[in-house]
Amino acid sequence: MQKTRVLTGITTTGTPHLGNYVGAIRPAIAASRNADVESFYFLADYHALIKCDEPARIQRSTLEIAASWLACGLDPEKVYFYRQSDIPEIPELTWLLTCVTAKGLLNRAHAYKAANDANRAANEDADAGVTAGLYMYPVLMAADILVFNANKVPVGRDQVQHIEMARDIGQRFNHLYAGEHFTLPEAAIEENVATLPGLDGRKMSKSYNNTIPLWLPAKELRKAILGIVTNSQAPGEPKNPDASHIFSIYQAFASSEETAAMRQAFADGISWGDAKQKLFERLDRELAPMRERYEALIAKPGEIEDTLLAGANRARELARPFLARLREAVGLRALRDGIVAGESAAKSAHADKPKMQPVVFRGDDQAFAFKVLDAKKNVLASETGFADPKTAMAAAQAAMNVLEAAR
Ligand code: TRP
Repeated sequence: MQKTRVLTGITTTGTPHLGNYVGAIRPAIAASRNADVESFYFLADYHALIKCDEPARIQRSTLEIAASWLACGLDPEKVYFYRQSDIPEIPELTWLLTCVTAKGLLNRAHAYKAANDANRAANEDADAGVTAGLYMYPVLMAADILVFNANKVPVGRDQVQHIEMARDIGQRFNHLYAGEHFTLPEAAIEENVATLPGLDGRKMSKSYNNTIPLWLPAKELRKAILGIVTNSQAPGEPKNPDASHIFSIYQAFASSEETAAMRQAFADGISWGDAKQKLFERLDRELAPMRERYEALIAKPGEIEDTLLAGANRARELARPFLARLREAVGLRALRDGIVAGESAAKSAHADKPKMQPVVFRGDDQAFAFKVLDAKKNVLASETGFADPKTAMAAAQAAMNVLEAAR
């Protein structure tokens, strides 16, 4: 039986924090021990370049994230654990996918649209400060996923649209180059994984600057925990655990018995100071042995490098022959054999291509839009924002010409 392939990437721009551990590292490592899955975990350092132009930070983050996953128990012999930039087949596939991706699809990506909206709100050009890298982010991510034909991609909600785009792009390639080249991936949103509150009570996230780094030395971890905001209830006053960030974090680490005991302590009026101390002790109990492994690992970066390179070698054994087949499929072929005569080959190859059809309509926002459909009603291109149906139709015709020329 073909095992389910589970794949996820971690962007290498930051230092792992408690929220990453509870929300991503711990569940992923637990899932990787399931014998029915084949896991792919990788350091998305090409993605990191999109939002970070500090070379030292990218290198440091790559080291810290790799060491963290290993320290937390990821077994690099049992999973594919690699660095994105060690797999040249990924950027190679990115280009093949770029050439079948509708520009209109990328126009609709949340991250890109958010940048546009912020610019418009500031009376700037819509694309001010937007790199082509940000624009192309979903295509690179599709290549990450499709290159290994992943079935399931565990991600946060903010990433679901990217998985849907990977499906769209893969489907379009399969359709254009008539074949089941790519498995279409599905997003796996872990419903029962905790999201931790940060120091200020909002979701713990690098972008809110409210994180507790995962590998703080015990003393500093304790200090950070003392800094979590609480209300001003006095010792002895009964406290509501379900409104307490201390309790939420405790619960994400404790067993159900420990959690029940803490719940009782809150009802009995435990002081915030004591609750924080108990939280610190519980966290440190789980983290201390891993912290020790982390320190040992990070002291030998050369060994981590070797581990990642070995992972990339194994992963490339899958990617290399796959890319060879894809190159063949699109016509990047050796000239030695199998040449089909020019004109007639071009004609016969396209004789069975279905016809395209333009559709112009008015969207919810009252703007005119077009879609170009193939015979099976697949959307080949689309764009909105036109002032009248005539310009929308003209744009549809232009898009069809481009599609036709690309055939
Ligand atoms: N974009 C993802 C994030 O920011 C990271 C990522 C890159 C990824 N490539 C991926 C996740 C492929 C899943 C699959 O979280």
